[in-house]
Amino acid sequence: MLAGEHGRATQKAMEILSSLGTIYGAERMVRVSSVQISGVSYSNLGEAGLQFLSEMAEGGGRARVLATLNPAGMDVENWRTLGISEEFAENQVRVLEAFARMGVVTTCTCTPYLAGNLPRFGEHIAWAESSAVCYANSVLGARTNREGGPSALAAALTGRTPAYGLHLDRERQPAATIRVEGRVEGSDGFGILGKAIGERLLEWTGQAVPYIKGVGQASLEELKSFCASLATYGGTALFHMEGITPEAAQMRAPEDAVLVTEGDVETARESLTDAESAELDFVSLGCPHLSVAEIARLAELLEGKQVRKEFWVTTSRPAKAIADRMGYSEIIEASGAKFAVDTCCVVAPIQGRFRAMATDSAKACYYAAGRHGFGTAIRSFDEVVGEALR
Ligand code: F3S
Repeated sequence: MLAGEHGRATQKAMEILSSLGTIYGAERMVRVSSVQISGVSYSNLGEAGLQFLSEMAEGGGRARVLATLNPAGMDVENWRTLGISEEFAENQVRVLEAFARMGVVTTCTCTPYLAGNLPRFGEHIAWAESSAVCYANSVLGARTNREGGPSALAAALTGRTPAYGLHLDRERQPAATIRVEGRVEGSDGFGILGKAIGERLLEWTGQAVPYIKGVGQASLEELKSFCASLATYGGTALFHMEGITPEAAQMRAPEDAVLVTEGDVETARESLTDAESAELDFVSLGCPHLSVAEIARLAELLEGKQVRKEFWVTTSRPAKAIADRMGYSEIIEASGAKFAVDTCCVVAPIQGRFRAMATDSAKACYYAAGRHGFGTAIRSFDEVVGEALR
């Protein structure tokens, strides 16, 4: 590949990977079975990024393994309803077409593991979305570093990645123990816990792999929220959680433990709300993208009611298709809430469009404030719906 025998794009891809391998001291390449590529929104890529993708497509680049995409800047089918401009939509379509020409599946989601891209325990993969990377490593027990957009694409075109970091047993060992006090529940509760632990880890050890004790139990939805938040606030790509994640039983937790108290969690909760209920003019659920079970719950809460604020329901195209079949979409749309499929409230170009947002996601709070300039209010899933109806 490096010698150019498989075409110019594959050669370029292998050049990227071998440079990365040299920088990180990798001794070899490993085959990957799955790729997830970030940097899909035209607002992140711009013309320069689109140019790079077009060159790779024209140079004969072709995905050798299953590769899917992170959310784009708009709902591919429903962008007008979300107030996306014609010009942005045209550019976003050009991006998706370039990926499609390379055989990348244009399912745009940060929960690829709920949409047909589900690696098994121990598999080497190359994923880029930070929340999905944390979920794949920790909850599924697959092995990936946090790739950038170009290195993930390069892995797709070659089916390889350099073997360093979290691909190696020694790098997956826990270096810090966190003991959680008190009961945590809900997507909001787990996101808030992720913030409290992530910030504590950064102060204490830098980006060490944590071994987390005391949580007891967690649902898929709670774990996806926790992963998104821990990756956002702690830069964490792997954790082990006693009794919950698959590698935890094989690992020995370091003796010294740091306590995360109910007070720490409460402080983290308070820090994520700076807007009063009266200021909220935007409501969003689905960071990370909603599961079918969450959409079903939403339909139950919205049945026969009318929302009074702009309300985005963000999810993947496959989850939406199931929601359509089950009649959930009809109920949700009849309430005035809008599906924002393939995209989310962070990567869509909505800077300054709203004053303040209610969400159950600690990660969405971080980016809505930092990227869009919105005030934020974190609530439980059901309370977010209550805000939309108020
Ligand atoms: Fe997914 Fe967007 Fe949140 S990519 S994790 S919904 S910021």
